[in-house]
Amino acid sequence: TRVAVLISGRGSNMAALIEAAKAPGYPAEIVAVLSNRPDAKGLELARAAGLHAEAVDHKAFSSREEFEAALEARLEVHVADIVALAGFMRLMTPSFVERWAGRMINIHPALLPAFKGLHTHERALAAGVRLHGCTVHYVTPGMDEGPIIAQAAVPVLAGDTADVLGARVLAAEHRLYPAALARVARGEAPIVAGRVAITGEDL
Ligand code: GRF
Repeated sequence: TRVAVLISGRGSNMAALIEAAKAPGYPAEIVAVLSNRPDAKGLELARAAGLHAEAVDHKAFSSREEFEAALEARLEVHVADIVALAGFMRLMTPSFVERWAGRMINIHPALLPAFKGLHTHERALAAGVRLHGCTVHYVTPGMDEGPIIAQAAVPVLAGDTADVLGARVLAAEHRLYPAALARVARGEAPIVAGRVAITGEDL
C-alpha cells in the first residue's frame, strides 16, 4: 500500500510513520511527503530519511480548487493509495475529500468528538477533563468528523500546562498513528454504516 503523507509543519507524526514503515512486514510504504508550506521543517526531515519530499505551496494558486488539482496531480504521479494527513493545516474542499473517501486519514490531538478544531490541550485543561488523548479518523467534509479508526487516552495530571499535556498526547500520537495506518492498509478498518467496524484488538 502506497502512502503519501501531507504536512504543514514540524512533521513529528510523519517521522513516526516513516520510522514504523521501515519495519519488515509493515503493510504500508511512504512514497512521498507533500507540504503546503515550503518552509515546513518536516520536508527536511523527510529528505534526510531518504524520502521524496516536496512543497505544493497553496499561496501559489489563486483558488482552493487549483491548489487541490496540483496536489492531486502529485498524488497521481506517486500513485498513492492512501493519504495520511499529519499536521496538515488546510481544509480540503468536499469534492477533494469525496474523491479520497475511505482512503484519507488524519490524526487529531484530542479524544473526538470532544475538542474538534484548534487549541485542544488548552481547551481540555479549561474543561477539567481527566482523560485526554488523540484520535485517528477518516477524513470527511466536516472538520474532525469522520469515522474514528483508533484512539489513545492519556491522563491529565496535577500541574499540567498545555505544553506538558500536549507533549504527553504527542507521544501517544507517535505510537497510535503508525498502528492505525497499518490497520487501514491491511483493510482492517472498514467503514460500515458510517462507522469503522471494530475488527481487532484496541490499539
Ligand atoms: C499534531 O498534534 C497532530 O495531531 C495535529 O497537528 C500536530 C502536528 O504535529 N493534527 P507534527 O507536525 O506531526 O509534529
